[in-house]
Amino acid sequence: MPKTRLPGRRPNAVLAAAALVTAMLGAAALTTVATGPEAAASGAIVGGEKASLAEHPYAVYLVDDAGTQFCGGVIVSSSAVATAAHCAEAVSTKDIRVVVGREDKRTNEGSTLSVSKAWVHPDFEKAEEGDDIAVLTVRGRLPGRAVSVARDTDVYAAGTKATVLGWGRVADGGDRSDYLRGAVVPMVSDSTCKQAYGSYDPASMVCAGYQQGGIDACKGDSGGPLVIGDTLVGIVSFGDGCAKPGKPGVYTRVTTFAGTIAQQTRGR
Ligand code: ARG
Repeated sequence: MPKTRLPGRRPNAVLAAAALVTAMLGAAALTTVATGPEAAASGAIVGGEKASLAEHPYAVYLVDDAGTQFCGGVIVSSSAVATAAHCAEAVSTKDIRVVVGREDKRTNEGSTLSVSKAWVHPDFEKAEEGDDIAVLTVRGRLPGRAVSVARDTDVYAAGTKATVLGWGRVADGGDRSDYLRGAVVPMVSDSTCKQAYGSYDPASMVCAGYQQGGIDACKGDSGGPLVIGDTLVGIVSFGDGCAKPGKPGVYTRVTTFAGTIAQQTRGR
């Protein structure tokens, strides 16, 4: 098994422990212990590369009251952000902040806005059951640019390449990224996705990823955008681990909710 190196910061204790394990058991053990066998690809999201807000000005992330990034989001109007329902419910609305215009979490670039209202799809229970969509109205105006929301389901033709963006983990069980990352993933057919996930609902979900795995969204990317060009086609929802073979990422099927999103952003 090849030695796997992860980019980004790792706590010293982890580095020291990893070095010790490597010394004792060899590089194969490090791969297994530190990242799991499926996380062979480097870069992030998992298997992606650094992306820019100049190219994707609608991408935002959410932080909690401790300032910790916990999800992604996407600007859908001058004062509203779409995200996953499971993200909006993870932190109490008064403690959610939307960070816009900050590519690197370690900087103070851009701005941080509080949320005046969180609309969560009324049928949402958990990501695996669908309807994983929420719209956050922020206090003030978002400096970024709104994405356009797909309405035509042609975008879901199997094999169509889309880009997923986020600040989440760079490997299954690994560290979150300091930078915005992006990865290109092909849309997966409903029948293939249904084989991967028994709870798959083609009315409210869509899958994207590679049969062989290696490239995917991961924990912390939830709520973030899957785009084709400047058009939003999905919102990161769930997956079995990250980047595993036969387990594509599952996204909220945005075309189903385009009307609802428009309604929730009206006048906002
Ligand atoms: N639920 C995860 C989160 O909270 C995101 C899951 C996406 N996983 C995947 N393998 N595509 O951030």
